[in-house]
Order: sequence, then structure tokens, then C-alpha cells
Amino acid sequence: FHSGLLAGKRVMITAGPTREALDPVRFLSNHSSGKMGYALAEAAIAAGARTTLVSGPVTLPIPEHAQYHPVESAAEMLETCLRLVSECDIFIACAAVADYRPEQVQGDKIKKNDAEMLLKLVRNPDIVSAVAAAEPRPFTVGFAAETRDLLAYARDKMQRKGLDMIIANDVSDQGIGFNSEENEVTIVCGQTEHALPRASKTIIARQIIEAIANSSGK
Ligand code: C5P
Repeated sequence: FHSGLLAGKRVMITAGPTREALDPVRFLSNHSSGKMGYALAEAAIAAGARTTLVSGPVTLPIPEHAQYHPVESAAEMLETCLRLVSECDIFIACAAVADYRPEQVQGDKIKKNDAEMLLKLVRNPDIVSAVAAAEPRPFTVGFAAETRDLLAYARDKMQRKGLDMIIANDVSDQGIGFNSEENEVTIVCGQTEHALPRASKTIIARQIIEAIANSSGK
């Protein structure tokens, strides 16, 4: 890994969870820590890239030298990414975007009563697909977290979303991935597959950045 790998390149990364509001005090979200996305931002910066981090709410320190754009909802994350997409050469979607949001956001706090409550949810937009469809489009990288048939699902996802590269992540193993310090991934790009041994997210991030630098022709 050397510090000139992505010199002169502009990288945008999404990280963390999104929050989908129900009312002024409640939301739907997930347990994403943001660690992988923040490690990627640190690695991109260390590789000399001008790095934009579009992040949902996490408790991690903001990487020094990152252009930091905090967001809450998927809609806000999409809006920010599309606004900035023309200014990036490489896009890495690492965020755990909520697949659904409440159809209605109540303006006042929802009051409880003795009856059941049904929540109607609607699909959120797919951010990485929208970025991959932009014109001009950046070299676009996504993640696939799966519990079985990892590489088959990852390849399918890469094709469906129009990605150049996908990072396949087996999340059936509790020790890696979501919310842990370590990860074990396979980098899929075109017909090639490159399995990385289990390592800290910092090391994995540097290996992903190296693979992107090699494959994006940058
Ligand atoms: O479809 P799935 O959620 O498994 O795809 C995961 C990949 O797609 C990740 O790279 C994630 O950041 C991205 N994604 C996105 N917007 C969504 C859902 C997923 O950018 N609404």
C-alpha cells in the first residue's frame, strides 16, 4: 500500500445506517456501526484521494481530511450522493441503507392506545444503483452481505445494480462483518474473484482500496 495510489482521484463513500423517521422522536434503523465505511475513508485518504464521506448517524470520529456530509434518512443520503456524484471518480457504497421507510412521518408524537398498531412501510430508493446509472458515472463499488450462496448472490447483485466491483461479505459468521472489528471478504470484479483472509477492517479497507486503484485504471 503506498500513499500515491489514488493521488488526484476523488472518492465518495457512504457509511453507517440510515434512520427512517416515524414521528419527531422515533425512527426505524439498524445496528450498522459504520466501521467498514470509515476504515475505507481513512484508507482512501491515506492513498491520496480527495475523500467525501456521506454518513448516517454513528459514534465514530470523523476522519481527518474527509469532506464530511452527515445525513439521516435514505432519501437524504440519495440526495447528497446525486448532488456530489459528478465530482467523484470512484463511489463506494458501504452504508446499510434501510430498505423500507414508514409511508407517513407523523408531525406530532404518535400517542399509544390499547389497540394494535399497523405500520405501513414503503421501499426506499437504491442509492448505489442510482449512482451507477448517473452520467458520467464513477467507478462504482457495492457490498453484498449474505448468509448463504455468497458469491452467486454477490454476482447477481453486481449485475442488477450496474456495479463495477462488489465486496462479498459472509455475515453468517458472528465474528466478522456487522459491528465487529474484523472482516473477511471476497472482492469480485468482472470475472475475477479475490478472497482476502480475515483481518482488521483497517487492513481489509487498504486491500479494497488497492484493488479499486488497480481495477479502475486510476
Ligand atoms: O440490496 P442490498 O441492500 O443487499 O445491497 C447492498 C449494497 O447496495 C451495498 O453496497 C449498499 O450500500 C447498497 N444499497 C444502497 N441503497 C439501498 C440499499 C443498498 O446504496 N437502498
